[in-house]
Amino acid sequence: MAVDKTLEIRSSRLEDAEDVLDLWLAYHAPGVSDTLEDVRRLIQDFPNQLLVAKVGDGIVGAVIAGWDGWRGHLHHLAVRPEFRRQGIARALLEEAERQLIKKGAKRISVLAERENREANAFCESLSKLGYELDTWMHRYTKRM
Ligand SMILES: CC(C)(COP(=O)(O)OP(=O)(O)OC[C@H]1O[C@@H](n2cnc3c(N)ncnc32)[C@H](O)[C@@H]1OP(=O)(O)O)[C@@H](O)C(=O)NCCC(=O)NCCS
Repeated sequence: MAVDKTLEIRSSRLEDAEDVLDLWLAYHAPGVSDTLEDVRRLIQDFPNQLLVAKVGDGIVGAVIAGWDGWRGHLHHLAVRPEFRRQGIARALLEEAERQLIKKGAKRISVLAERENREANAFCESLSKLGYELDTWMHRYTKRM
């Protein structure tokens, strides 16, 4: 489906919660916080940290632009398949970057699963914006 000038990137609102969860459940790697309660809490407590891409009435993409007062962390980026390769993920990332820089971020990281071909292709394309693969760190996680 073609994206025309109706593409809008904006901060999330509570009424977006179900559509965002549907998007992530269908097109993002499963996560421990993929519940309506968790998405609603994110929107209520940190509305500017979840950005959505809208075309017409529908949410076609989303990203979490996490800010902890020190670094920016971009994750949960996903775009509906019929809207891919039209610059929507890039537009979400650029808006997230603008907001994080305004908040004071001096470094921003983007997560891509090692085996996810399209995620890595997208991240490789970010070299034009100055992103580099960081082989310096390992990520350690704990599930509650
Ligand atoms: C990864 C994803 C978010 C990209 O969304 P998108 O809106 O299609 O990305 P864009 O149109 O902004 O792509 C920007 C550039 O990234 C690269 N790219 C994106 N998807 C690609 C693919 N499948 N194959 C090769 N290159 C790709 C291209 O260089 C592209 O520019 P171009 O179309 O002018 O060649 C989308 O495929 C998706 O939702 N995947 C499932 C969820 C996921 O993997 N999330 C992790 C993201 S880090």
